[in-house]
Amino acid sequence: MAQSKLQSKPKKEHKPNWRHYSFTTVGPIDDYLYSILPKRDSVLEEMENYAAKHDVPIVGPAVARVLQQLAMTINAKTVCELGSAIGYSTIWWAQAVGEKGRVIYTDGDPKNAERARGYFGRVGVANRVTLHTGDALEFLSEQKEQFDIVFNDVDKEDYPRVLRLVPSRLRKGGLFITDNVLWSGRVAQKNPKDGYTKAILEFNRLLYASKDFYTTILPIRDGLAVALRV
Ligand SMILES: C[S@@+](CC[C@H](N)C(=O)[O-])C[C@H]1O[C@@H](n2cnc3c(N)ncnc32)[C@H](O)[C@@H]1O
Repeated sequence: MAQSKLQSKPKKEHKPNWRHYSFTTVGPIDDYLYSILPKRDSVLEEMENYAAKHDVPIVGPAVARVLQQLAMTINAKTVCELGSAIGYSTIWWAQAVGEKGRVIYTDGDPKNAERARGYFGRVGVANRVTLHTGDALEFLSEQKEQFDIVFNDVDKEDYPRVLRLVPSRLRKGGLFITDNVLWSGRVAQKNPKDGYTKAILEFNRLLYASKDFYTTILPIRDGLAVALRV
């Protein structure tokens, strides 16, 4: 009797649960991650302070290090940056590509470009950076060359459009990197109404589904999508 009861017991399902309940990168853990970063060039620190004071949404030093490390990993020599603001991430790219490398800065705001130009000179990377003021997507659509890296940090509603433009302008083995793909967690909302979140959700879905890329999202800061051109 006891035996048959045992046999009829429903099998326990062992579905993987990838939630890491005991760990979160917000708050004190973020503080720790930023506290262990090596000291940066004083101009970069000045830019971080300027960005904080004037609400310029820069990637910050932890993400910037990932960008630089990825560029070093594939020995990137050409980077096309879409959305450069005051040139903070541009400088990290410029340092990664070395003296013979080239980084394209793009921003729609000429005042940003002017400020960025000053920083490039002070950091000593001005000869590696080409500045373009105007619409970054239009600029990319006109490019005939294939870059080693395309970095996407423009207005979020344009992300799906950027994705359509990138494959033919990125060499195989190159990287398509996009910031803010977790959008402060709003991507996890049930029915997001705002256009930016919807555009990012569409972008992430298309990026993972694309046969042109092998993608992972790194949940660092606001989420960084790293897509290898295959
Ligand atoms: C998030 S900020 C870039 C920050 C920069 N990547 C960094 O981390 O240092 C976005 C910038 O992209 C610019 N931008 C947004 N959409 C653009 C577009 N379609 N064409 C050119 N610039 C654009 C904005 O003017 C803004 O300065």
